[in-house]
Amino acid sequence: MRPKLFTLDNGHRDTVTDKTLPKPARQFARRTPPPAAAEDRADATVTGPFAGKAHPGSLLSAGPLPLREIGRILARADRLEPEGAAKRARRLAHRRIALLFYEASTRTRTSFELAAKSLGAETTLVSALSSSIEKGESLQDTGLTLRAMGVEVIVLRHPQSGAAEVLARAIGLPVLNAGDGTHEHPSQALLDLRTILQWKFGGKTPTLTPRTLRGMTVTICGDILHSRVARSNALLLPRLGARLLLCGPPTLLPEVAAQLLPAPTTGQIEVHHDFEACLRQSQVVMMLRIQKERLNNLQLDLHEYMAGYQLNAARLRNFAPQSAVMHPGPMVRGLEITSEVADGPQSVIEKQVANGVAIRMALLVRALKAGKP
Ligand code: NCD
Repeated sequence: MRPKLFTLDNGHRDTVTDKTLPKPARQFARRTPPPAAAEDRADATVTGPFAGKAHPGSLLSAGPLPLREIGRILARADRLEPEGAAKRARRLAHRRIALLFYEASTRTRTSFELAAKSLGAETTLVSALSSSIEKGESLQDTGLTLRAMGVEVIVLRHPQSGAAEVLARAIGLPVLNAGDGTHEHPSQALLDLRTILQWKFGGKTPTLTPRTLRGMTVTICGDILHSRVARSNALLLPRLGARLLLCGPPTLLPEVAAQLLPAPTTGQIEVHHDFEACLRQSQVVMMLRIQKERLNNLQLDLHEYMAGYQLNAARLRNFAPQSAVMHPGPMVRGLEITSEVADGPQSVIEKQVANGVAIRMALLVRALKAGKP
């Protein structure tokens, strides 16, 4: 007999024994969570020699970025991407960039690193395991240590919401938020925006105005509750005129998500639980992983979840045969999305990954140029 309810809390292993689940879904439910970072006390009290406002080259949130500034970042990405390797490698030659990662990451870390290296910068990776973070060093002390070594930009991923802001205010260097807890992932939202614009307008980046994406409906489906990607996109896309449908089961999608944005964009975010109805209206559909590591005892029936919210070939064909399919990764194939869809002709998932490098090059140059003539 198959167990009906799966507990996906942090402490449990092997709660799912159901052989009827597709293999990746079983693996997903079984996977042990990564060890918690030894240091997760992103203390909100900022003190020390450099305490103050965040450096203007920082990127902490997608929310406060004016459209003009976003346009400049996209234009810079457009210029840097086709540039010859030798010219590009002179842009940030020998500048020091630290990648400070307290959480696992594949594409975000690698794309920041490749972006920095292709601009000629020197990079160093500090990860939670194998550094003094493991010994309990605070985020601020780690930041100040890197600064004392001549690091000029810090790219930070941290399990605690708000950590990027705390670090930025403590060290006075540009900090690029590469994901802080369930809060934000602004560089992901920018690369998603570049992908959406390419899909809609072809190669040419249009001028960004509150009407640029008017008439477009975007669905983000899955674990909205824990998704920093959803939040950063929600703070960005409606400001360009897009209508945003947040979709998922009520346990993973709080009603208040509709109020993420202040007026006049408030009405542009809607909360829905019927995935097929959302698909029918959408030109873009972005699927999200269930963030098992953040579920905290929440119970979820994976069969029910897949029945209602999996993007599979039949659903896509029947309800959104023309739409672009996105996913920030990592994907759990067979759970929120099937391989047929992820690798299919409507998928722009690889384009998102490629855009990650271009956007992150632009963000690193911006970080080091900000405040300079
Ligand atoms: C996401 C993240 O880490 O926030 N991935 C990413 O950076 N591309 C989404 C996730 O972990 O599911």
